[in-house]
Amino acid sequence: MKIGTPLSATAKRVMLLGSGELGKEVIIALQRLGVEVIAVDRYENAPGHQVAHRAYTINMADGNALLELVKKEKPDLIVPEIEALDTDMLAEIEKQGLAEVIPKARAAQLTMNREGIRCLAAEKLGLPTSKYAFAESMEEIKQAIENGVGYPCIVKPVMSSSGKGQSTIKEEKDIQTAWDFAKSGGRVDRGRVIVEEMIQFDYEITLLTVRALNEQGEVDTTFCEPIGHIQVDGDYVESWQPQAMSATAKQKSQDIAKAVTSNLGGRGLFGVELFVKGDEVWFSEVSPRPHDTGMVTMATQYQNEFELHARAILGLPVSTALHDPGASAVIYGAMDEKGIAFEGIEKALAVPQTDIRLFGKPEAFKKRRMGVTLAYGHDVEDARKKAKAAAAMIKPVKN
Ligand SMILES: Nc1ncnc2c1ncn2[C@@H]1O[C@H](COP(=O)(O)OP(=O)(O)OP(=O)(O)O)[C@@H](O)[C@H]1O
Ligand SMILES: [Mg+2]
Repeated sequence: MKIGTPLSATAKRVMLLGSGELGKEVIIALQRLGVEVIAVDRYENAPGHQVAHRAYTINMADGNALLELVKKEKPDLIVPEIEALDTDMLAEIEKQGLAEVIPKARAAQLTMNREGIRCLAAEKLGLPTSKYAFAESMEEIKQAIENGVGYPCIVKPVMSSSGKGQSTIKEEKDIQTAWDFAKSGGRVDRGRVIVEEMIQFDYEITLLTVRALNEQGEVDTTFCEPIGHIQVDGDYVESWQPQAMSATAKQKSQDIAKAVTSNLGGRGLFGVELFVKGDEVWFSEVSPRPHDTGMVTMATQYQNEFELHARAILGLPVSTALHDPGASAVIYGAMDEKGIAFEGIEKALAVPQTDIRLFGKPEAFKKRRMGVTLAYGHDVEDARKKAKAAAAMIKPVKN
């Protein structure tokens, strides 16, 4: 393994496809290792654009635009940070040997569509998941429910993220609303949805799983301590680590995560989303990249999830060890406005053992994540209290 000098002929070059708050932290981690980084996003001045060697604004769902940029920049590695990409073009780029796609182009292809990853997990790997079926009309949703999914259930567009277009059906009369909502919220309106049994879990976790090279040059799979989180409308508002679990549930979670990530292959960090009830565990989905709920690791681990991803993709060894229990809490935009400011940061950071990340997004929306507070403490409860108290002191204001 060799890292050269950025901006010279020997540079190790990495291209981030998607440069939001998660990409920004991956870029910073790579920069610290002397890597040359190219940040790509769909809008100007995205968080990652602000810390990269070069920044581009293109439509990443446009395969030709993607190919042109890859040919121009000649990155060694391509790191997808979002799902809305032309993943077939990524596969072509990988096949032609133009760059290595992290973890593999196939992982991006499978996870951009709920159908791909669900069929792999449930049917090919035989992992426990909620009961599910796919539907393309209200009538098919009704059939899916009657043929086994049952009430209550959740309808999600197959191509969507962050809870967009997702809703719960409690009884037959909700089907119409769920169908209309799903059609409005999908990324590409293909009118295809997954209908999922509602799991009555005790708690849900993200199990950050790392595939990195060991000293023998073989891929080892290691796990971070489980991260607990609370989701509101499909978006995380609070996360903490470690989530207390029974030994059985933890082992099952690691087994599931190992099975899925081994199949996806390559090197990097994955966020495996699981539902837990007692000793029972269900696979929900996986991100072949750092996970938003994993931002807590910036307060809790010696190597946070972004550093783990950076190391793993470069072929460097990793440690997933926990430093202190901790928590994160989300700061929303609270208004639809460009160039907003934040007040109360001095008060927030006066809460002991807290920290903050403001992402620098050029435009706020009421429910857009603009930053997070981080805290550590003697236990998770203590850290959650501090992270929430700090977040409550931050006031987004119009300038
Ligand atoms: N089958 C289910 N049973 C119970 N709860 C569910 C189920 N599916 C989803 N949820 C709840 O909704 C949340 C979001 O679901 P999911 O992760 O599938 O959506 P998403 O749009 O991919 O979200 P994100 O991109 O933020 O991960 C889950 O974290 C969980 O809280
Ligand atoms: Mg999810």
